[in-house]
Amino acid sequence: MSAASPIIPYDNLNLGKKEQVKKMFNSIAGRYDFMNRILTMRIDILWRRKAVNLVKKYPHDSILDIATGTGDFAIELAKLKPAKITGIDIADKMLEIGRQKIEQKGLSGKIEMMEADSENLPFPDNSFDLATSAFGVRNFENLNKGLSEMRRVLKHGGRVLILEASEPQNMPFKKLYKAYMSKVCPAIGGAFSENKAYDYLNRSVAAFPSGKNFEAELVKAGFSDTHYIPLSFGVTSIYIAKK
Ligand SMILES: C[S@@+](CC[C@H](N)C(=O)[O-])C[C@H]1O[C@@H](n2cnc3c(N)ncnc32)[C@H](O)[C@@H]1O
Repeated sequence: MSAASPIIPYDNLNLGKKEQVKKMFNSIAGRYDFMNRILTMRIDILWRRKAVNLVKKYPHDSILDIATGTGDFAIELAKLKPAKITGIDIADKMLEIGRQKIEQKGLSGKIEMMEADSENLPFPDNSFDLATSAFGVRNFENLNKGLSEMRRVLKHGGRVLILEASEPQNMPFKKLYKAYMSKVCPAIGGAFSENKAYDYLNRSVAAFPSGKNFEAELVKAGFSDTHYIPLSFGVTSIYIAKK
């Protein structure tokens, strides 16, 4: 992904990627969870569950969930019974919905949702046991800054857990996936929500580093012991690394 030509949601707005991403997620917030369930046929729930199960064995008493959105990953992480989860996001409307869900589930004492930027985290160094992000890092304006900030706020030996969309590499699934992402997703997105958002989803996944290339980004940000697990023929990947 070149810094000179970032993948942005709107091509007719004179705003940087961060502002555009915030505007887009605020505008689709009310439909975000519903669209996730439709477009993934509810498999996103299983991806989040699998990712959370994989970090059970690492320290997780204090968790920072970055780009927490409407809180689905933070709510899944609560099953690890940490002392506290802090969820941060730049889109206030996503957070508003997340707070309502957290309250309904009786998790308000466990999960705190805050408006903050992943590239400038308002926490001291070495604060958290585990830093997570589900479907968030692809949207960062500056990936290296965001990953470096995750590392900075982690305690030494702490883990980062990232769940992110990726493109399958093997035929014939790759071809089917491309047709689904470029035609079906924006059409369903346009019918129920904002099709720009689902066109951006397709373009941003295609341009984003995955597998070994994303591991290299983690190493560049200072992480070690990186590994990744592709899920569902590679349409999503889990990455884990150590500070
Ligand atoms: C696809 S949603 C993921 C939400 C949630 N983690 C989930 O699993 O459903 C991506 C989120 O990233 C947030 N985001 C993008 N850039 C961000 C940044 N620089 N700092 C914090 N949040 C950011 C967006 O506002 C949006 O809520």
